[in-house]
Amino acid sequence: MSYDSLYQQSLSDAEAFWAAEAAKLDWFEFPHTILDKDGDDLYRWYKGGKINTAYLALDRHVNKGRGQQPALIYDSPVTGTKKTFTYTQLLHEVSLFAGVLTSLGVRKGDTIVIYMPMVPEAVIGMLACARIGAVHSVVFGGFAAHELAIRINDARPKYILMGSGGKEIDRVIPYKPIVNAALDEAYFKPEGCIVLQRDFVTCEMTPGFDLDWYDLVSKASPVPCEILDAWDPLYILYTSGTTGAPKGIVRDNGGHAVALHSSMEYVYNADPGSVFWAASDIGWVVGHSYIVYAPLIRGCTTVLFEGKPIKTPDAGTFWRVIEEYKVNTFFTAPTAIRAIKKEDHKGDLFYKYDLRSLRYLFLAGERTDVNTYEWVSALLQKPVIDHWWQTESGYPMLANYGGLGLFPVKPGSAGKPNFSFDIRILAADHSEMPSGHEGAVVIRLPLPPGCMPGLWNDNERFIKSYLTEFPGYYFSGDGGYCDEEGYIYITGRIDDVINVAGHRLSTGEMEEILAGHYAVAECAVVGCNDELKGQVPVGFVVLKHNLDHQADQIEAELISRVRDMIGAVASFKTVYFVERLPKTRSGKILRKIIRCIADDSEYQVPSTIEDITVLDEIKWTLGKKS
Ligand code: COA
Ligand code: AMP
Repeated sequence: MSYDSLYQQSLSDAEAFWAAEAAKLDWFEFPHTILDKDGDDLYRWYKGGKINTAYLALDRHVNKGRGQQPALIYDSPVTGTKKTFTYTQLLHEVSLFAGVLTSLGVRKGDTIVIYMPMVPEAVIGMLACARIGAVHSVVFGGFAAHELAIRINDARPKYILMGSGGKEIDRVIPYKPIVNAALDEAYFKPEGCIVLQRDFVTCEMTPGFDLDWYDLVSKASPVPCEILDAWDPLYILYTSGTTGAPKGIVRDNGGHAVALHSSMEYVYNADPGSVFWAASDIGWVVGHSYIVYAPLIRGCTTVLFEGKPIKTPDAGTFWRVIEEYKVNTFFTAPTAIRAIKKEDHKGDLFYKYDLRSLRYLFLAGERTDVNTYEWVSALLQKPVIDHWWQTESGYPMLANYGGLGLFPVKPGSAGKPNFSFDIRILAADHSEMPSGHEGAVVIRLPLPPGCMPGLWNDNERFIKSYLTEFPGYYFSGDGGYCDEEGYIYITGRIDDVINVAGHRLSTGEMEEILAGHYAVAECAVVGCNDELKGQVPVGFVVLKHNLDHQADQIEAELISRVRDMIGAVASFKTVYFVERLPKTRSGKILRKIIRCIADDSEYQVPSTIEDITVLDEIKWTLGKKS
C-alpha cells in the first residue's frame, strides 16, 4: 500500500482506518464506538474499549513468548552503569512497584508526580502507575522548585516518586533540596515521597513523609493489571504555553496505545524485536512516547540513556551506544547533532564505530536546518528524517513513512501529514494560503487518536487555547507552508513559545518572572537564533527611573531569577537594557520586530507602530553590547 492511498483512506473514512489499527492490539473489550463526543462536546476515540497500557507494554509480550528478550537497556555513562531488563524482569519489577503503590492506598484515578533522572526506576514508576490506573505526571529533572510546585498544585499527587539526584556530565544535582523547596511553596500537600537513593548522592529522609524505594519494594507483592476504560487518563504532561501557567496535557489509554503502535509500524518501521533508541528525556513527550510506551507496546527493545551527546565522555557516545546495542532506529533532536558536529566535524569519532545495524535517524523537537541535515546524512549514509510533533499530539503529525517505503526527502520539510491529520495552512482571515505561502498550521477536527483529548481539569482553557482562533480546527501555534507536492515546512512558533535545545519554554513566563523584579518597569523576552541550541531567550528590559547605575547588578539578578524559578534549561543569559520597547499605538509590544532586529533578519514595520525611532534605539543598544 502506498502512503498516498493509505492517507486518503485515513481521511475519507477515519473510523474504519482507526478501527483496523485498534484491532492490532489486545483489548479486554473492543470499543463499541470508534469516534464519539463526550459531555463537553469534545471528540473521544474508542468508547467502550477496555484496555491497560502496561499490559500491552509488558504482560502481552511475556504471554506471547517474548519474556527473554531485552525490553529495557539502561546505559549511563555519567555513573558508569549498564543494565538490561528482559520483558519478564521488567514485568516483575513493574508489578512489584505497582504493589508498593497499592499498599500505600494509591488507586485508579489518583495522581503521582515523578521527579526523577533517567534511571530504570523512573520507567518502572510510570508503568506501575499505568498498571493500576494511577495517572502519572513526570516533571523534567532540569526544572527548578517553582516549576515543580506549580505542577504539584495542579496535579494534586497522592505521592511523589523522586530520585535523590542526577548528574549533569560530572556535576551532581541533588534533587532533595529542590523537592523540599517545591513542597514548601506548593499549597497542595502530597501524603509522602518515595525516594530512590542513588549511591553518589544520598539524601536525608524526612521521617513520616519520605519512604525508601527499595525498602518498600522488599516488602511488596506483585499486583495484576487494572482493567481500564479507553478514555481513562494515562498521564498528564505539563508543557509551556504562552503564560506562566503550564498546560497539563492529558493522554488517554486507548487512543494513545493505538496511535503509538501505528506510528511504530508506519513511520518508524520498527518491527517487534528490533532495537529502538530515543535519546531524549522521560520528562519530555518524546521520552514518554518513544523511550517508554511505543517501543514496549510494539515489543521492541528500548534504550534508556543517561548522558549527553557530548562530554559523556565525548562526541562519539551516541555512535558507541548504537554499535553496542545494535540500535536499528535512532531518534534525537537536531541540537544534539549540532553539538556533535561542532566537536567532531570530520567524524573521527564516528568512524570508530560499526553502525551497520542502524536503519534510520529521526529528528524532531525543532526544525532540522539544511546544514545539519546534510552533514549528518553524509556521515551516516542512511535516511535522515525530520518529523514534526508536539506534546499535544504525542506522536508525529508530519513525517516520512519508513513502513511504506519512504518518499524522497526534501531537506527543510518535515514531510507529509500522518494518518487522519488533515493539515491546512490558514491566513489570519481563515482563508487557505496558496502553496508556498506561509500561514498558521492548523488541523481540521477531529484530531486523530492519541492526540490530547483535553487539559487536566481545564477544558475551558483547552478550547480557548487551541480550538477558538480557527473554528473547526486545532491551532498548533506553529507557522509554516505547504509546497505544490504536499510537503509541509514548519517555520517556527507564531506565539510566545520557544524551543531551546529541544526544550519547549514560554517567553511569556520569563517575562512574568522578570517583571516581578523591583527594578523592572517593562520587559520583553524573545527567542533569538543560536547556532547550537536553535534558539535562546534574550531579555529587553526597561528599568524604573534612576536605576541605570545598578544595571550590572540587576542584570545578574534577573538572570539568576529565571534560573532559580524555571531552571538552568531556560538558558537565559542575556539582558539588554533599553529606554523603550517598540509598541503599537494600542500598546502591544512588537516582539517579532525585536527578534528580527536581534537576528539581523528582515521585518515589516506595521503602520500601527507608536514611534518608529524606538527601533533605532534597539539597534544601537544591540550594537553597543556586541
Ligand atoms: N537536570 C538538571 N540540570 C539540567 C538538566 C537536568 N536534567 N538538563 C539540563 N540541565 C542544565 C544543564 O546542566 C545546563 O546548565 P548550565 O547552564 O549550568 O551549564 C543547562 O541546564 C542547559 O542545558 P542544555 O540545554 O542541555 O545545554 P548544554 O549546553 O548543557 O547542552 C546540548 C547542549 C545540545 C548537548 C543539550 O542541550 C542536548 O543534548 N540537547 C538535546 C535535548 C533533547 O534531546 N531534547 C528532547 C527533545 S526531542
Ligand atoms: P514539544 O511540545 O516540546 O514537543 O514542542 C513542540 C514544538 O516544537 C512544535 O510546536 C514546534 O514549534 C517544534 N517542533 C517540533 N518538531 C519540529 C520539527 N520537526 N520541525 C519544526 N519544529 C518542530
